[in-house]
Amino acid sequence: MSLGRNLTFNIFRHDPQVPGDKPKMERYQLQEAPGMTVFIALNMIREQQDSSLQFDFVCRAGICGSCAMVVNGLPTLACRTLTSTYPKGEITLMPLPGFKLIGDLSVDTGKFMRELAERLKLWLHPLPTDKDMHHIEAPMEPEQAAKLYELDRCVECGVCVSACATKQMRDTFVGAVGLMKLARFELDPRDDRQDIDFYHVIGSQDGVFGCMTLLGCEDNCPKNLPHMQQIAYLRRKMALVTDVS
Ligand code: SF4
Ligand code: FES
Repeated sequence: MSLGRNLTFNIFRHDPQVPGDKPKMERYQLQEAPGMTVFIALNMIREQQDSSLQFDFVCRAGICGSCAMVVNGLPTLACRTLTSTYPKGEITLMPLPGFKLIGDLSVDTGKFMRELAERLKLWLHPLPTDKDMHHIEAPMEPEQAAKLYELDRCVECGVCVSACATKQMRDTFVGAVGLMKLARFELDPRDDRQDIDFYHVIGSQDGVFGCMTLLGCEDNCPKNLPHMQQIAYLRRKMALVTDVS
């Protein structure tokens, strides 16, 4: 069997739980295997070289969003990133910026997503008729349902938050994931909220008018979601709201 090339991993290490621990980079060498992903490499490093290395994963298939990290400068999912993407064999791994660091490459995206959901009220606000258990919900047109399912593909990985310079400069900006999730409810005919209700949560510089169209969200989203299209859609809708009292 032919031997794979040698890979060098430079990995950010810091455990905020350990008093006095200082952030540093650590270097690991590994032999590449066919089809190896960054996630597989990290597992091998943890199993064979350093059991203290912290990083997150659940599904290993690009579905749970847990393994997002910055690979050679770009935020992405470790389980969907082949080491063969990097011809020099040098791979630098950093935790996603903009989230609370748990340790090494592990960040707390859950807290961020939960607070975002509470801030933007990211759940269906049913029509008065749909609150009646005996009322039969109206069927939805397939094209309409397809639009909603498209936006529901978000895996809450946090990549678009880390890739957004506006969000990194201004922490109060809701970010692309919040705007896209809100667009999903604005489009939903079963949601009772009117545009004025959405305006009160995103009709400001911290919301849809704060986006500087830098495209980091759309360029890096591992699910290829149409952030710019949805932000433009919401911006048009919010610009047309006249009575904001
Ligand atoms: S919109 Fe894309 S990048 Fe942002 S959290 Fe969802 S899946 Fe991740
Ligand atoms: S481990 Fe689930 S998305 Fe990578």
